[in-house]
Amino acid sequence: MPETITITDDRTGKTVTVPIEGGVFPSSALRELDPTLYCYDPAYLSTASTKSSITYLDGENGVLRYGGYPIEQLAEKSTYLEVAYLLLNGELPNTEQLSDWTHDVTHHTFIHENMRKKFAEGFHYDAHPMGMFVSAIAALGTFYTGSKDVTDPDQRNIQIRRLIAKSPTIAAMCYKFSVGLPYNQPSNELSYAANFLNMMWKIGDYEVDPVLERAMDVLFILHADHEQNCGTTAMRVIGSSHADPYSSAAGAASALYGPLHGGANEAVVRMLTDIGSIENVPAFLESVKNGEGRLMGFGHRVYKNFDPRATIIKETAYKVFEVTGKNPLLDIALKLEEAALADPYFVDRKLYPNVDFYSGLIYQAMGFPTSMFTVLFAIPRMSGWLAHWQELLNDPAQKISRPRQWYAGPDERNYIDLANR
Ligand code: CMC
Repeated sequence: MPETITITDDRTGKTVTVPIEGGVFPSSALRELDPTLYCYDPAYLSTASTKSSITYLDGENGVLRYGGYPIEQLAEKSTYLEVAYLLLNGELPNTEQLSDWTHDVTHHTFIHENMRKKFAEGFHYDAHPMGMFVSAIAALGTFYTGSKDVTDPDQRNIQIRRLIAKSPTIAAMCYKFSVGLPYNQPSNELSYAANFLNMMWKIGDYEVDPVLERAMDVLFILHADHEQNCGTTAMRVIGSSHADPYSSAAGAASALYGPLHGGANEAVVRMLTDIGSIENVPAFLESVKNGEGRLMGFGHRVYKNFDPRATIIKETAYKVFEVTGKNPLLDIALKLEEAALADPYFVDRKLYPNVDFYSGLIYQAMGFPTSMFTVLFAIPRMSGWLAHWQELLNDPAQKISRPRQWYAGPDERNYIDLANR
């Protein structure tokens, strides 16, 4: 069987044959047939926008790999900083590389005092932490004028380290402001995850629990990248105009904020709270089937069997609950999962729990308010966004993103004076 595809333009009888490689054929075939012919693909359902070596995802079989390494092995054996290095460099670091990388990230965790005193304190007292996070990431770029020089690899490297290092600091700052508590400065002797937990919770003799530190790190690993999702696509689209990485990352974080994307973890906990008790689960599922809302934390554009991240998160949840006590919403979540997975509506549509179904329960058990959940997703996703941004800038096939449209508006018509409308 030839690994090619032949497309015929029935209007002209012209045919073009192009290779299929890795399940993809080049759209240049269409341009060869007719340079004014475009493929209509809302939401990019059939479009591969890039050739990427960072993350492999097989939605039919529930496979997720970073740089070829299965997510299950990384979640068991690796650390978030090691994974961030892998995403950015394509290989796991050796001892020296890991030590240098950890040192570099750890020594960029502080933010300029104006970020906190002048910028954060300008927000309204009830500002959503994710809205603050998005704005703070964009604002941070104004402190580093060199960040505009995106063609300079040295500048790119330093900005990458800064963004990964300062994301937890900014996240904790947003939380502290939202509850009116004093800020904790970063503690460079702690691990990436422990430093974040310390900035969040340290009052008096607080010490980070090692089980919670590891759980946080595992959650960071699981959320680090997920190939061309909505937020990463936003990062690439903005980055393709050679905007600085802070502006691009702020755009990616804005995309993540939406409830159909990274905002789903917050929506799941709200949904479980509204359901209230396991007796109400059947009625809730009926309402979803009647189109009165979605079962949040279920379904995925790519995973049509199971989301491997959800399996690991469910295991992590039990470890966390041993320290924090069980989240009372867990029983409702388990019942909901069981009932949905036995219901033809969800089975036929291949709807399974996704990464957001159980993560919110862990976050809540650890004391995070729901408004912080998407911020907790954004912290580790920063490394994935930056890996894709770097790949984009190094890819000679990429240009500024500029899709075409299928114009469906009126034909030319004459302007009507206001008095005659
Ligand atoms: N609850 C009920 N029905 C659903 C759901 C859901 N969660 N998700 C999809 N469907 C139905 C949908 O109504 C449609 O039914 P029909 O064919 O009868 O019209 C069918 O399943 C296909 O849905 P779709 O909207 O075409 O699927 P999509 O691939 O465009 O959407 C999704 C993917 C994740 C946006 C969607 O499943 C959803 O809204 N899920 C809830 C929100 C959520 O949990 N998001 C987190 C995604 S994972 C984290 C991340 O990567 O951001």
